[in-house]
Amino acid sequence: MSRAWNFSAGPAALPEAVLKRAQAEMLDWNGTGASVMELSHRGKHFMQLAAATEQRLRQLLAIPSNYKVLFLQGGATQHFAQIPMNLAPEGGSADYIVTGVFSKKAVSEAAFHVDARVAATSESTNFLTLPPRAGWQLNPDASYVHYTPNETIRGLEFHEIPDVGEVPLVADMSSNILGAPLDVSRFGLIYAGAQKNIGPSGLVLMIVRDDLLARPPRPIARILRYAEQAANDSMLNTPNTWGWYLAGLTFEWIEREGGLAAMGERNARKSAMVYEAIDGSDGFYRNDVERAARSRMNVSFVLHDAALDSVFLAESEAAGFIGLKGHKAVGGMRASLYNAVSQPAVDALVQFMRDFAARHG
Ligand SMILES: Cc1ncc(COP(=O)(O)O)c(C=O)c1O
Repeated sequence: MSRAWNFSAGPAALPEAVLKRAQAEMLDWNGTGASVMELSHRGKHFMQLAAATEQRLRQLLAIPSNYKVLFLQGGATQHFAQIPMNLAPEGGSADYIVTGVFSKKAVSEAAFHVDARVAATSESTNFLTLPPRAGWQLNPDASYVHYTPNETIRGLEFHEIPDVGEVPLVADMSSNILGAPLDVSRFGLIYAGAQKNIGPSGLVLMIVRDDLLARPPRPIARILRYAEQAANDSMLNTPNTWGWYLAGLTFEWIEREGGLAAMGERNARKSAMVYEAIDGSDGFYRNDVERAARSRMNVSFVLHDAALDSVFLAESEAAGFIGLKGHKAVGGMRASLYNAVSQPAVDALVQFMRDFAARHG
């Protein structure tokens, strides 16, 4: 049995070393005679694992001491709704920068709990561009500004952290967290579903500044309050212990591979190679995203003749590739190049794309 070249957008490829380690430890983790999944989250073994995993992440991202790290559930989507409940008072307002399907979803879920204003949007370009910062209509009294640094569907990425003044910046980093070094101190709150660059789905990582946790609570259930989760080490109820464990293995792997600087360099190189294959194809492949906003994590492309889409997918699958079909909202193809997608996988993809174009061009 051989592993596929996996370019899925999420759930996505995990480092082979992480999977092998989990496999080796499945029946007897840490001398406990049980897998992590079978042990109490309150037991000393898991408590140690939880603390060590948080510490590893703190080191990787150089997270300042005035931020808490939470290991939550519900997917990023649940937090689209939960963030306004926690950060904005009743009747308060928040600004949203809408650059794709996920930020649009974020604003529509938030609207149940806050006056969610669209301060800038690039919908008129079909989310192929980023709205220039100069045109953002920010409200200085907003409870926070929310944006999506990497829109997974089109593959549209902010390459700089926008300056929004004193209002806390909230970022949905589901598809680019740990893909490159990051200055956490620029953010009020960062959150990410784990199933792309961290581990399995069902785990949400959150990094949140203390002053935001100290905002007066709304009358919402304790289980929905981030401050309660922080005060209880994310164990207000049973956490996703398996996801937490795999996240820890991934953090360890990133550390061993050279940390976030190494990830950033690799991802820049990998994405540049795929964009080069697209741009150098004489129009056989096309990526319409504004150059300066092309994503390093998700590279989308269309074929010059949509009738070839199914042929591309069938041939690529036969050649051992999976996950190349674009999101149904935009069609075409998409290659997601998360940390675990190796250079040999990208070399193989670029070679396949060139061969396919030569055969069908
Ligand atoms: C940027 C971004 N935000 C949010 C989501 C939704 O995540 P979940 O399915 O974990 O709720 C995704 C999923 O692909 C995503 O890419």
